[in-house]
Amino acid sequence: MSTLPNGARYIPDYLDRVRQEALVETIRTVVAEAPLFVPVMPGTGKPMSVRMTNCGPLGWVTDKERGYRYQPTHPVTGKRWPAIPADLLQLWTDIAGYEKPPEACLVNFYADDARMGLHQDKDEKDLEAPVLSISLGNTCLFRVGGNNRSDRTLSFKLSSGDIVVLGGEGRLCFHGVDRIYPATSTLLKNGGRINLTLRRVT
Ligand code: SIN
Ligand code: FE2
Repeated sequence: MSTLPNGARYIPDYLDRVRQEALVETIRTVVAEAPLFVPVMPGTGKPMSVRMTNCGPLGWVTDKERGYRYQPTHPVTGKRWPAIPADLLQLWTDIAGYEKPPEACLVNFYADDARMGLHQDKDEKDLEAPVLSISLGNTCLFRVGGNNRSDRTLSFKLSSGDIVVLGGEGRLCFHGVDRIYPATSTLLKNGGRINLTLRRVT
């Protein structure tokens, strides 16, 4: 475990291969019920390169007209999100150090050419709870900074099985994914990277 400059925690190799494989199976069942969708930027309608879905009572979505928000239903199917599977709830219990359960698990799928610009996770009302982030599949270059966009940032690689906890002073830190390194993991047959973030919303 190491503490990043702003208090965010980095826990490398938290999940062994067997647990990573089990989580991929778990995510497959979620995606079968709640298919990946293409999120678009508010205002411009520009599509993001990452594809997304969610599980939990609430899910994070974005579209051109209504922007970033949480809602109980899938934006394409209109159905409620599937429940957060037990293995993910257990990870929250083990790591988050927060009494109430997570309400949203955002599933981000990065093809090998996808990335995510520097941003803060600030659409949640509860900023006391941490955001717990799990990496699966190909390695990425993760960037984390301070609470202002202009703060100095630190970049490091996140590999399959690594966990990052954005909590405490680091809860609102800017972060993003600059690139994916193709063929750095054999976990996902078709390459790419999955990132799961467990969040408390209300
Ligand atoms: C996110 O900020 O939602 C994703 C972070 C990551 O992919 O590691
Ligand atoms: Fe984020």
